[in-house]
Amino acid sequence: MNTLRIKPIERAAASGLQRTLGRWDLVFLGIGAIIGAGVFVLTGVAAATQAGPALVLSFVVAGFACACSAFAYAELAAAVGGSGSAYGYAYATLGEVFAWVIGWALILEYGMAMSAVAVGWSGYFQNALSAAGIALPESLLKTPFEGGLLNLPAASIIVVLGFLLASGARASSNVNGAIVLIKLVAIGVFIAVGWGDVDPANWHPFLPFGWSGVMHGAALIFFAYIGFDAVSTAADEARDPDRDLPFGILGSLTLCTLIYIIVAAILTGIAPYATLNVPSPVASALLAHGHRIAAGLVAAGAIAGLTSVMLVMYFGQTRILFAMSRDRLLPAALSNIHARTGVPVFATVLVGVVTALVAGFVPIREIAELVNIGTLSAFAVVCVGVVALRRLRPDLERPFRTPYSPLIPILGFLSCVYLMLNLPLATWQRFIIWMVIGLNIYAAYGYRRSALAQN
Ligand code: ALA
Repeated sequence: MNTLRIKPIERAAASGLQRTLGRWDLVFLGIGAIIGAGVFVLTGVAAATQAGPALVLSFVVAGFACACSAFAYAELAAAVGGSGSAYGYAYATLGEVFAWVIGWALILEYGMAMSAVAVGWSGYFQNALSAAGIALPESLLKTPFEGGLLNLPAASIIVVLGFLLASGARASSNVNGAIVLIKLVAIGVFIAVGWGDVDPANWHPFLPFGWSGVMHGAALIFFAYIGFDAVSTAADEARDPDRDLPFGILGSLTLCTLIYIIVAAILTGIAPYATLNVPSPVASALLAHGHRIAAGLVAAGAIAGLTSVMLVMYFGQTRILFAMSRDRLLPAALSNIHARTGVPVFATVLVGVVTALVAGFVPIREIAELVNIGTLSAFAVVCVGVVALRRLRPDLERPFRTPYSPLIPILGFLSCVYLMLNLPLATWQRFIIWMVIGLNIYAAYGYRRSALAQN
């Protein structure tokens, strides 16, 4: 069974990437990836069409699945390491074909999330431009499917971020830190201003779509939590990965969960849930109460927030490709590192070109659900990976241990699968097509070229 060959855990193997990131850089990296389109855009859709005021409970349910998975990520990130994240953990525990499948799912997660968020960014950007009296031609704002030429702002922002990432991890981390502060201020403004306008009458009826609405809402707003896992893709660039990765993963997730629950409660408290299905619900809800300046600040923070999500997703995507290429499941060029900047430049350019094309030419509607199913499958495997590795390698040094194992990883696995089952059939169909394509590529290329096949 060569497809189940396992890669030995060689934690000391030098990746060639530079170790420049400290523990708070990692927390900021996580927050940079987490707070974005999920809270600034999808909360509105989910409240209006799925969960109603019980959106708060959707956030608790999705947060629970993420918390269990985050413990599993923290354990494996510290014990197995490597910038390939879940892909690398599966390779060390379950075998090559599982690793490939997860790597392929992560490409869907990071790449498509970037394109989707770029389209959301473009929407906010256009609003800001028109508020400033600047109008771009319609044909440059819409994809060919919507009667235009291309979504130029969406494609352009990805190209700009590509240049930033190509200049090195430290430079991008500094920019990310600044952006994260801006978006935290924006959320702070929303909470401080919105608090005073909460009318408990808006929370009734609390469960207009019943419990199934809460669960469907959870499967959708799960998107808002994606990103804490991206911290683990910086394993080879963390100064002290054993301690700092668990800190970065759990720290960023905890902060964001608290923020989301508060924002969801206030949002559904200041506006009737049925009015929230708009592109910028968080800003619009403030505007409806006459808070023009606060609404403007929140919109500006959203633009910043979406930018940092794209930046970290972009970073994560190149590191996943880097890891898969080093194992020769993908062509070697993807792990070539530029001598001066220490960045995998070809991977950075390739990801930029592909995701900019997707963002520029494809209208992305249900893409968040597609991203969710890819990510949930990766989380589920990471949970299994913890249990598998404890059996396979009980001797392995584990700087961080998941509490109450195997209970927490099993709960994590079950809750991720449950959320997957709450996603629409069409999402499952697209996911299965994506996976069939991936398995064919593995059979035709990676299976033969794999570094493990050469030994
Ligand atoms: N969690 C990220 C967002 O909400 C993907 O945009």
